[in-house]
Amino acid sequence: MDHLENQTDDQTVYALPRIGSPAPHFEAVTTHGKLRLDDYKGRWLILFSHPADFTPVCTTEFIAFQEIYPKLREMNTELLGLSIDSVYSHIAWVSTIEEKMGIKIEFPIIADLDREVSTRYGMLMPDESNTETVRSVFVIDENQAIRAIIYYPMSAGRNMDEFVRLVQSLQTTDKHGVVTPANWRPGDQVIVPPPKTQEAAAERSQETGMDCVDWFLCRKNI
Ligand code: BEZ
Repeated sequence: MDHLENQTDDQTVYALPRIGSPAPHFEAVTTHGKLRLDDYKGRWLILFSHPADFTPVCTTEFIAFQEIYPKLREMNTELLGLSIDSVYSHIAWVSTIEEKMGIKIEFPIIADLDREVSTRYGMLMPDESNTETVRSVFVIDENQAIRAIIYYPMSAGRNMDEFVRLVQSLQTTDKHGVVTPANWRPGDQVIVPPPKTQEAAAERSQETGMDCVDWFLCRKNI
């Protein structure tokens, strides 16, 4: 009953997931058998939805997701797709991708025919489509907290580099207690979180080992 906001006779309404909140529980039928959120404990997870199988933009996205999958796995990060299609449709689609494009899709895909997972995660936007999930991405950490949420419209295929970069940023900031600037890439300087008191701000100006533009904007190497 997590995330249950209110319930009527014929419809359950769930609060939308929020950054920092526990990821909504799910148990779902996938192309790799039944999977539950708990199965991912101790690993990072990118849970993403696509509008429909056998559509052109989604096909390019699946090939691109597969291309980043080895890199994500090196980062202890799994991929899990979802659409409101049957498992038979998913199997047929990934078989076609392998046959026609030579790419084997190795990550599982949820067959969310009852819309249980897509409803809990806010992947359905009726003004965009009544029958398909939008292009959503949820980054869930190894403690099963939601760490990032991204939505794209039906018309725009997603940029995979950004998802890799985002997980790299989250894992780096967790490990080092820092934050990352715009367009940060691994190897670039990171930002030291700004002081929270007047006293700490005054102390910051005496600290060494940082490149400071001002007391509130200091960068360092890690
Ligand atoms: C596509 O993946 O090509 C697509 C899916 C839904 C609406 C428009 C395009």
